[in-house]
Amino acid sequence: MVEIFGRGLREVINDTPLYLSLVKRYCGIRLFKKRYPLLASVDVSNICNLHCLHCYWWLNRKEETSLCVEEWRRIIRSMLKGKVIHVGIVGGEPLLHMDLVKVFCEEMPRHVSVVTNGTLPLQRLEGLYFYFVSIDGNRDVHDQIRGKGSYDRTKKNIFDYIEHYSDNRYKAWKDIWLSLTINSLNYMSIEDCVDEWHGRVNKIAVQFHTPFIKRDPLLLPFGKKRDDVILKLLKLKKKYPKFIANQSKQLELLRKSWGGKGTTPISCPSWAILSLDHMGRVKRPCCIGSADTDGIKPICEECGLSSYAMLYCYGIRNA
Ligand SMILES: C[S@@+](CC[C@H](N)C(=O)[O-])C[C@H]1O[C@@H](n2cnc3c(N)ncnc32)[C@H](O)[C@@H]1O
Ligand code: SF4
Ligand code: SF4
Repeated sequence: MVEIFGRGLREVINDTPLYLSLVKRYCGIRLFKKRYPLLASVDVSNICNLHCLHCYWWLNRKEETSLCVEEWRRIIRSMLKGKVIHVGIVGGEPLLHMDLVKVFCEEMPRHVSVVTNGTLPLQRLEGLYFYFVSIDGNRDVHDQIRGKGSYDRTKKNIFDYIEHYSDNRYKAWKDIWLSLTINSLNYMSIEDCVDEWHGRVNKIAVQFHTPFIKRDPLLLPFGKKRDDVILKLLKLKKKYPKFIANQSKQLELLRKSWGGKGTTPISCPSWAILSLDHMGRVKRPCCIGSADTDGIKPICEECGLSSYAMLYCYGIRNA
């Protein structure tokens, strides 16, 4: 069967109106300095079963419920469907709200990924493009960041998924991508992690820890250590070009300050990813921010977020 970026020919043909609208939006952004979202990030869940050391989400979290299935369906139809090419479902932990994950997969089939800690069993979902499972290095460092026993649980759930859903026609390993957020604790274990997972899951994408406080000890600061990590990643990308999802240009960009000054985005195209919280409110300045204008803000000057860096590398820039 013919496949383009993991999609069958029929899916690509069905999506023609969306692609045409995206080309129009892209031209509007590049030629007329318009500000349209092309991607979305949605926190369907306001709960999580972990409390990871590095996590931005807990910083601005308030005790509230989430919108229900029908409220999300309305938002999807009015704000997302036919307008953005891809929605990343985040949280909190999205697998604690499978009813909401399913509504996104139903409404926007194959334009949805789920970012998950993978500690709960992974189910195959019709309409899901892939699971983005967070892995923060080898077992020791992952557990130091995410809690004892979490690495083994996540690894087991990934392998159970692959074994359970694979057959002669279906390659379930293709549904699993890994997301690694590099920080001062795990930067030494990246190569081990890549070697461990290569050939077992589809891809790995990295980004760098983005701080919310000055002199955050988890930040891998710009300079020699960070340069060495990027050099290593560029070498690994040469060795495993299909496995490392980041582009080389994007990795180079994350070597230095690129997004903004202090907590203000300047070059960063923060508007190009529509970011909604669990109540459907727009988060600012970006997906790791908050809908609360008094919320704690990320330090743009030390931004390591790869999705925004990728858009920047495609020429989608604010300034
Ligand atoms: C907030 S989590 C939500 C989804 C899910 N609970 C998980 O852990 O994958 C989304 C992603 O953000 C990453 N993350 C958390 N805090 C971060 C920070 N300060 N800078 C960059 N990435 C961060 C996590 O490692 C995870 O891959
Ligand atoms: S599992 Fe995800 S949302 Fe929960 S604390 Fe960890 S990084 Fe944050
Ligand atoms: S992605 Fe967020 S933290 Fe990074 S520069 Fe843009 S607005 Fe700032």
